[in-house]
Amino acid sequence: MQKLTMWEYTDKVKDFFLKPKNVGELKDADAVGETGSIVCGDALKLFLKIDKETGKITDASFQTFGCASAIASSSALTELIKGKTIEEAMKVTNQDIAEFLGGLPDQKMHCSVMGREALEAAVANYRGEAPPEHEEGNLVCKCFNVTEEKIRKVAVENHLTTVEEITNYTKAGGGCGECVPNIEAILRDLWAIKPPEKPARPKKLTNLHKIALVQEIIESEIRPGLQADNGDVELIDIEGSKVTVALRGMCTGCMMADVTIKGIEAKLRELVSEDIVVEAYQ
Ligand code: FES
Repeated sequence: MQKLTMWEYTDKVKDFFLKPKNVGELKDADAVGETGSIVCGDALKLFLKIDKETGKITDASFQTFGCASAIASSSALTELIKGKTIEEAMKVTNQDIAEFLGGLPDQKMHCSVMGREALEAAVANYRGEAPPEHEEGNLVCKCFNVTEEKIRKVAVENHLTTVEEITNYTKAGGGCGECVPNIEAILRDLWAIKPPEKPARPKKLTNLHKIALVQEIIESEIRPGLQADNGDVELIDIEGSKVTVALRGMCTGCMMADVTIKGIEAKLRELVSEDIVVEAYQ
C-alpha cells in the first residue's frame, strides 16, 4: 500500500502537542476510559470528574502514549468535553476533535478516533456498563488489534470506502497487510446497499480550472510536506489529466520516489479529479 510520507500539522496541533492542556492523572476521577495499547503504538487513558447532580463533566485529563497528533487529539478532547453534560459530550465525534485542531493529516485520523473511543470507554465506566463492544468481536487486524465492529463503525461514521482510509482511521491493514482482503470484503458488504454520501466535489472541471486547482494543491498541500523532509516538487506540465512533475532536493533519486509520485497522484485525485495521472519528469 502506498502512503504519503509528508505530515502537515496545523499550528493548533503543534500548540496542543508542545503545550498540551489537562495532562496527567486526575485524582479521585469519577470515570476512567482506556483505549489502544502500547504494543500497537498508541494508548490513551482519559479521566473525568463528573458532577453527579448535573451530570456535567467538571474536569478532564489524560495520559497518552503516542505521537504528536495523539497528544494533541487527547488534549483537544479534554478541552471539548469540559463543562458539557455526559449526553452532550457523547455527541463529540472524532471529526469534531480533528476540526477543533484545524484538521489532522489523513494518516493521523486514527488519533482522533482513539479520543472518541476513550470517551466512550469512560462514559461506560461511569455508568457501570461493560466497555464498548468494539474491543471484542471478530478480530480482523491482528497487527493492530482491530475488530470488524470497529472497522464498520468507523467506516460508517466517517464515510470511509477504501482500505487506505480504514488504515488512516484505525491503523488496520497498515502492518503485514494480511487483513487487507478481509477489510475489502467488509467495505464491499457495508456499502453494497447504500453508498456513502461524500461531500460533493466539482464533477466536471474546465481545463483552466483543473490547471489552477492542480497548481494550488501542489503549492498548499504537497510542497510544504516535501520541503519539511528537505525535498521538493516542481510542476512541469499539465496536459489534460496528465500531470508531469519533477522531484527536487532530497526527493531526487530517492528510493521512495515512486511512492512519493503515487502519493502526489493520490492527493490530486482526491482533491482535484479522479482521472489525474502523475508522471515523473525524465
Ligand atoms: S493483520 Fe492487519 S496489518 Fe497485519
